[in-house]
Amino acid sequence: MKVCMIGTGYVGLVSGTCFAEIGHNVICVDNDERKIEILKKGKIPIYEPGLLPLVQKNVSAGRLNFSTSINEGVRASLFVFIAVGTPPKESGEPDLSSIENVAREIGEAMEDYKIVVEKSTVPVQTGKWIRTVIERFNKKGIPFDVASNPEFLREGSAINDFLRPDRIVLGVETEKAKQKLLELYEPINAPKIITDLASAELIKHASNSFLSMKISFINALSIICEKSGADIIKVAEGIGLDKRIGRDFLNAGVGFGGFCFPKDLKAFIGIAQKLGYDFRLLKEVERINEEQMRRVVKKLEDLLWNLKDKQIGILGLSFKPNTDDMRFAPSLTIIAELKKQGTTIRAYDPVAMENAKGLMPDITYCNNAYEVAENADAIVLVTEWDEFKNLDLKKLKQKMHQPVFLDGRNMFDKQKMKELGFIYTGIGR
Ligand code: UGA
Repeated sequence: MKVCMIGTGYVGLVSGTCFAEIGHNVICVDNDERKIEILKKGKIPIYEPGLLPLVQKNVSAGRLNFSTSINEGVRASLFVFIAVGTPPKESGEPDLSSIENVAREIGEAMEDYKIVVEKSTVPVQTGKWIRTVIERFNKKGIPFDVASNPEFLREGSAINDFLRPDRIVLGVETEKAKQKLLELYEPINAPKIITDLASAELIKHASNSFLSMKISFINALSIICEKSGADIIKVAEGIGLDKRIGRDFLNAGVGFGGFCFPKDLKAFIGIAQKLGYDFRLLKEVERINEEQMRRVVKKLEDLLWNLKDKQIGILGLSFKPNTDDMRFAPSLTIIAELKKQGTTIRAYDPVAMENAKGLMPDITYCNNAYEVAENADAIVLVTEWDEFKNLDLKKLKQKMHQPVFLDGRNMFDKQKMKELGFIYTGIGR
């Protein structure tokens, strides 16, 4: 089947490539000429494990093409997926102007029946607007359907999440769109949930909000654990083994980040407000998360007394491992707070340092964890990269000025760290 994917960000590029991988003919479109240039040269503009070989394989097989022209993409395809960015405005509301522009161009380009599918995360009722805009600019009155097919892939494991998902959600308005979408996804073995447009849109925001809520719940619980002498890891295991709760997304840490949870949470609170409901539960999820990042400073004060002129080493900068994505990364808030206290910062991340340099030009970037430890008064592990699991901890400690280790992701064994002579603390233990 013929697919046009508009937008080559994480969602668009991974989805387009995976549609090609399951045998469809895909044209990925982006108005960013630089990105399309990179893709045409057989490279990719983002870091995502396993994506590059998959892109190269499908380009060689002739199933994956790139273009800067929406017109070309739309005319060549039955499905037109919209996967453009919906960044937050200052108010926290998503900026949907790119979606509107794309819908207009689709309307103008259409010459025969199309199924226009929302893939970007959008507020409920966006589908209605997409329909209205296409109708206005599709002067020849060509028939089309609008559908919603939210994406649940995670950065770092995006390909697996796309090809082996827990479920596929298809929000449709007609039997024809439903049958065609089912055919498109036929090669993927997963439960397929058929809904109306609004429900599909809501499922995406509700899923991300629920997962954020789980994280804030466990982070709030981590404070109780610290004050009562309990261990959050055992508590998470104990509650997570109840199938109704589930162990996933119950890892206490320095807070959640990335371009999805913080943004979607804000957007969902905003949508609820517009619909006349004050979603206070989610406001609290947000507040707990912000507080959790700031608690790192408090914890360091408990360990080091005065922070002024202290040297703090940061391990990991990306918002989670296996990505170079720095958007809304907890490291940004933590480092900003630490700098306010007059500390100097040395940091290392296996892949995110190039992106971090643009956002934090005034900290020292190191070549590895041992350089970070050089003369450090404390180390804070912010992102749990696998690489850190294999550190020579004795060597790390020897390089430090004071052996204070704040494990923001509970990566290390508490007892072992103490035996090695670290003044060690985690989150909620
Ligand atoms: C998230 C969702 O998990 C995807 O299902 C969704 O498709 C995606 O957003 C999206 O809307 O596009 P992602 O942002 O890639 O995916 O990352 P997650 O793996 O969900 O992690 C988000 C944040 O939560 C990270 O900062 C991570 O460190 C934190 N986290 C996660 C915790 O602090 N504790 C946990 O137990 C799990």
